[in-house]
Amino acid sequence: MRIAVIGGDGIGPEVIAEAIKVLRATVADAAIETTSYDLGAQRYARTGEILPDSVLAELAAQDAILLGAVGDPNVPSGILERGLVLRLRFEFDQYVNLRPVRLFPGISSPLTATAAAPLDMLVVREGTEGAYIEAGGILRRGTPAEIAMQESINTAFGVGRVTRQAFAAAAARPRRKLTLVHKTNVLAHAGDLWRRTFEATAADFPEVAADYCHVDAALAYMVTQPDLFDVIVTDNLFGDVLTALGAAIGGIGLAASASINPERTAPSTFEPVHGSAPDIAGKQKADPTAAILSVALLCDHLGMTSQASRIEQAVADDLLERQGEWAGRSTAEVGDDIAERVSG
Ligand code: IPM
Ligand code: MN
Repeated sequence: MRIAVIGGDGIGPEVIAEAIKVLRATVADAAIETTSYDLGAQRYARTGEILPDSVLAELAAQDAILLGAVGDPNVPSGILERGLVLRLRFEFDQYVNLRPVRLFPGISSPLTATAAAPLDMLVVREGTEGAYIEAGGILRRGTPAEIAMQESINTAFGVGRVTRQAFAAAAARPRRKLTLVHKTNVLAHAGDLWRRTFEATAADFPEVAADYCHVDAALAYMVTQPDLFDVIVTDNLFGDVLTALGAAIGGIGLAASASINPERTAPSTFEPVHGSAPDIAGKQKADPTAAILSVALLCDHLGMTSQASRIEQAVADDLLERQGEWAGRSTAEVGDDIAERVSG
């Protein structure tokens, strides 16, 4: 297994070190070959490079990419997001953005009054289209007559392939429920394509209970009645917003994500949802659990399902024992404790 490691900026390298520690404790050490890539704000500040084509070509030959976090107050907003994070998703055709939303037993949440742990849903967010592809442009910039167009591109191909993956994911879970989240009442064109695609695909998965929810209502229900949802499929931008709320529900230090190329024609990327948190960088204060759970998603994607379950179980046990408290541990100590559980 060849794994490209991009620690990135801020707390990224610290949490990724623990994720690799747990991976090595789970999978035979000799089976893993990691290569570190220096990408992110530091490299950009030093050389002006974001993701050189030569590095992209090397990454293409790896089995998976493990990414910590990128971003620094000194780099203008948008440069690393578009040049690195989104470029990887587009170049490697990572069209399934998988984001589990979970509330683990033992963890207190802003939803503790309305939701009882365990809560376990999965957002399948489209990753290569929608409002993210920079379609459109600006005319007469800086004048009173300026026009800014930012179009959302939805193709039958793109909507079809992610919808099919979402149905398959729902069919493999105990509840077998899939909700399309969109805004079909207002976004009539894109909404029509999503709805028709969803209904046509549903016919191929009669075992999955399929329903629909507008995105504004879905955000409200995620707070008031989150157990309405099992798997959600949605477009790139709605998925970004929904999963930010999802991370807040389960704890930002625990939210994992994967940008998957299901056909494996290129590597998939696994990364915690959280950012680089420069204010606590290098202090061993960051929770590495989201990065460790991202490694479980990596194992799952590469067919090591029992190893993935072992990591998830070790995390759940650790969290239960933690009872919402850090118990004074450092980033490395949390990694040690979880690594010990998977090997023991
Ligand atoms: C995320 C992030 C990215 C996104 C940014 C960094 C481009 O917010 O992974 O959710 O919008 O997808
Ligand atoms: Mn986001």
